[in-house]
Amino acid sequence: MARNRSLYRCQSCGGTSPKWQGRCPHCGAWNTLEEEAGAAGAPPKGLGARRGRVLDACPLDAPIANPTRIATRIGELDRPLGGGLVPGSAVLLGGDPGIGKSTLLLQVLARLAAEGRRTVYVSGEESPAQIQMRARRLKVEKTPVALIAATDVRDIITTLKEGQPVDVVVIDSIQTVHVDTLESAPGTVSQVRSAAAELIRHAKASGTAIILVGHVTKDGQLAGPRVLEHMVDAVLYFEGERGHEYRILRSVKNRFGATDEIGVFQMTGGGLEEVVNPSALFLPEDGRGAPGTAVFAGIEGSRPILCEIQALVAETSAANPRRAVVGWDAARLAMILAVLDARCGLGLARADVYLNVAGGLRIREPAADLAVAAALISAALGQPLDPGTVIFGEISLAGGVRPVARSDARLKEAEKLGFRRAILPAAPPRRGAKKGSSNGRLQRHVCRHVADLVALVEHLPGDARTAADG
Ligand code: TYD
Ligand code: MG
Repeated sequence: MARNRSLYRCQSCGGTSPKWQGRCPHCGAWNTLEEEAGAAGAPPKGLGARRGRVLDACPLDAPIANPTRIATRIGELDRPLGGGLVPGSAVLLGGDPGIGKSTLLLQVLARLAAEGRRTVYVSGEESPAQIQMRARRLKVEKTPVALIAATDVRDIITTLKEGQPVDVVVIDSIQTVHVDTLESAPGTVSQVRSAAAELIRHAKASGTAIILVGHVTKDGQLAGPRVLEHMVDAVLYFEGERGHEYRILRSVKNRFGATDEIGVFQMTGGGLEEVVNPSALFLPEDGRGAPGTAVFAGIEGSRPILCEIQALVAETSAANPRRAVVGWDAARLAMILAVLDARCGLGLARADVYLNVAGGLRIREPAADLAVAAALISAALGQPLDPGTVIFGEISLAGGVRPVARSDARLKEAEKLGFRRAILPAAPPRRGAKKGSSNGRLQRHVCRHVADLVALVEHLPGDARTAADG
């Protein structure tokens, strides 16, 4: 007799186990196994003898219809989306609680509804009154967005099928909706996966663009189901530091456009406002020219963004010196510290080190290595850098400085913002490049090894700006 056995599924990786265990046997995460009643079911059967139908093949050069996009006309959202929402597609929007996901999506729907599109906002977390209050705050309460408070996917899909076709629907959030044929609680992997599958199937069939809100856990993963990222067409993350007003919308997957594009917003009393020209946003005016600050010329997606990197190095007698990083990768900082110690003997291993990227930006580019190293050297030596200097380059374990992509775009932006110096890697030999092409006005200091950087920090102190001009 086949018993209706339970199955335990890991909420982190989706792996299954026939019995409960404290630790997932697949990914090693602790306390992530949850019971799925009756899910073990019968073993999968073979296909049997029935013959399928022969499928048509399609040549690669067959004419295709370009997806007509629904432009949200919020440029900072359209860019990471690759030009707008594609009808019938599914977008996942992730982000920490309170970062502004619901605010952004209500603004988007209001904008589209005002243009005559049929939009539906389904909320499983907030009451209609709360959303109405937010709409008033955003001054969009007069726009015809249909507001629904519901958590049952069956009801939601039935409602969406009613009447005129819906152009865009927001599900806020996927962790709060549930499919009534499953017994597990909302928010578990099986619920989230089934609910998303049903909603995405409806989107594809009806041509409605669907935006799913997903919560992010403490360690930065979309809660539970990484599986969700595979099911949707685009994944956007809304990020930023709580205390800062700037918010960055980053595309990490996009079947209809480029990834790593960002949109920049500012949270104001009346909702999110676009920051159209963010390149100088992360350059605070105060504290420039103090020891330990360096300006990194970075690239986010297709746009150059300059940001300030701040380091503080403090002597300590503790056995385990403190390392605190905001806005950068802690492992990468440990690597740069080790390289500076081993190749330049700066003695940072016995000091507390704090590193901060100004304005709540999170940098992922390895090109920031050289700017981080410059901030650390400047802090360790107590020697300010010339505030008119931008820095970029990747550092290898041997202490060599490697060239990075798009250095021309970085230099051009720095020049536009009034910088006069750049510390950069030696240019790679390029085919067909014109010698001395652009960026003639920036004074360049080529850095081949971190030891060159120490010499530059020592000999290009903060007051050298006027001397070098003469
Ligand atoms: P919210 O959109 O509810 O975040 P999420 O859906 O990602 O959890 O945004 C919540 C925060 O934004 C809240 O702390 C208040 C703030 N906020 C403003 O500063 N201005 C505004 O106009 C609105 C609507 C919210
Ligand atoms: Mg919300």
